[in-house]
Amino acid sequence: MKILGIETSCDETSAAVVEKGRNVLSCVTASQIKKHSEFGGVVPEIASREHIKKITEIVKSSLENANLKLKEINAIAVTNTPGLVGSLLVGINFAKGLSFSLKKPLIAVNHLKAHIAANYICHKNLKPPFLALIISGGHSNIVEVKNFCEFKGISKTMDDSIGEAFDKIGRALNLPYPAGAKIDELSKNVKEIKYSFPKPKVRKNPLNFSFSGVKTAVLNKLKEEKEKNNAIKIEDFAASFQKTVCDVVCEKVSTAIKFKKSKKLVVCGGVSANSKIREELKKLSQTLNFELFLPELKFCTDNAAMVASQAFFEFEDGNIQQNFNLNAKSCFSF
Ligand code: KG4
Ligand code: ZN
Repeated sequence: MKILGIETSCDETSAAVVEKGRNVLSCVTASQIKKHSEFGGVVPEIASREHIKKITEIVKSSLENANLKLKEINAIAVTNTPGLVGSLLVGINFAKGLSFSLKKPLIAVNHLKAHIAANYICHKNLKPPFLALIISGGHSNIVEVKNFCEFKGISKTMDDSIGEAFDKIGRALNLPYPAGAKIDELSKNVKEIKYSFPKPKVRKNPLNFSFSGVKTAVLNKLKEEKEKNNAIKIEDFAASFQKTVCDVVCEKVSTAIKFKKSKKLVVCGGVSANSKIREELKKLSQTLNFELFLPELKFCTDNAAMVASQAFFEFEDGNIQQNFNLNAKSCFSF
C-alpha cells in the first residue's frame, strides 16, 4: 500500500510517498520561510500563492524520488485541518484532482494526528496506546492516543502555543522568523541562566498550558534592561526563556504521566526539535520510568511523510472520502 501524501496547511509545500504507514519512499518539501520572514510571520495570502506555484513540481519530484508512476500509487492523502484555509485548499483541490482522475481513494488527514504519526515512521514498532505531547507552531496539547485513529485530548493551551512564544520572543530579540531553532542554538552557549521568569499557574485543569505570561515577563525584562541602559546579551534572554518553557513542559508531562499511569510518551511538532526539551524529557523518562519516543529532526517540522503515514491507518480504519465534498477547516481541538 503506497500512499501519496500532500501537506500545505501553513508555509511548507510538501509531498511524500510512504509505504504501509512506516516506510518513507520519498519526501520533498519546499519551505516558504524566506517569503514570510520579512513580515515577521506567515502572511496567509502569500502562503496560498506560493503553494499554487510549487505544488505540481513538488508532487512530481516526490514521485520521481520514489521511482514511481502516478498509476502505481494506491491512495491520495491530504491535510484538511487545522491550518490556513487558503493554504489547505490548494492541497485539497490538488489531491481531489488526482484522486478523481486516477480513480484512487482520497483520504483526509488531520495535521496534528499526522505530527503524532511522524513517530510511526521513526519507531517501526511503536503502537498505541500512549500519551502524545504535541508542541508545534500552532499547538500545545497532551493527548491520549488510544488507537491509531482514536484520540482524547487531556491538555491544551489557554492562550499562545509554545512555538508562537518562541517566535514572538525571537522577534523581540531581532531574530528572523521562525526563531525557535535560533533560540535553541543561542542557548547552547550559555553556561549560567541569568534571568528567572515566573511559571504560569493554570486554574481548573493543572495539565493545561499557558505561555502568554512567560512571554510578557521576558518582554518586560527586556524593556527594563534597555531603559536602564544595561548591556543586553540576547543569549541570556534566549536561554532563560527556553529554560522556563522547558520546565513548564516537563512539569505538565510529569503530571500527565503520573495521572494517566502511562508508560509511553510520544513527542511531536516543530518544537520537539528543541535540544533542551529533548534532553530534559530524556532525563524525566529515566526518573519516572517511561519510554520516550522522539521523531528524527527532519520529521519534527511540517512534512508530507507524516500525512501519508497517518493516512495509512485512516485507510485501514475505513476513513475514506465517499465523494468530493472534502473542505478545509481552520480550527480543530481534540
Ligand atoms: O510543527 P511546525 O513545523 O508547524 C506547525 O504545525 O505549527 O512547527 C513550527 C514551530 C515554529 O514555531 C518554530 O519556531 C518551532 O517550531 N521550532 C523550534 C525549533 N525548531 C522549530 N522551536 C524550538 N526549538 C527548535 N529547535
Ligand atoms: Zn505542524
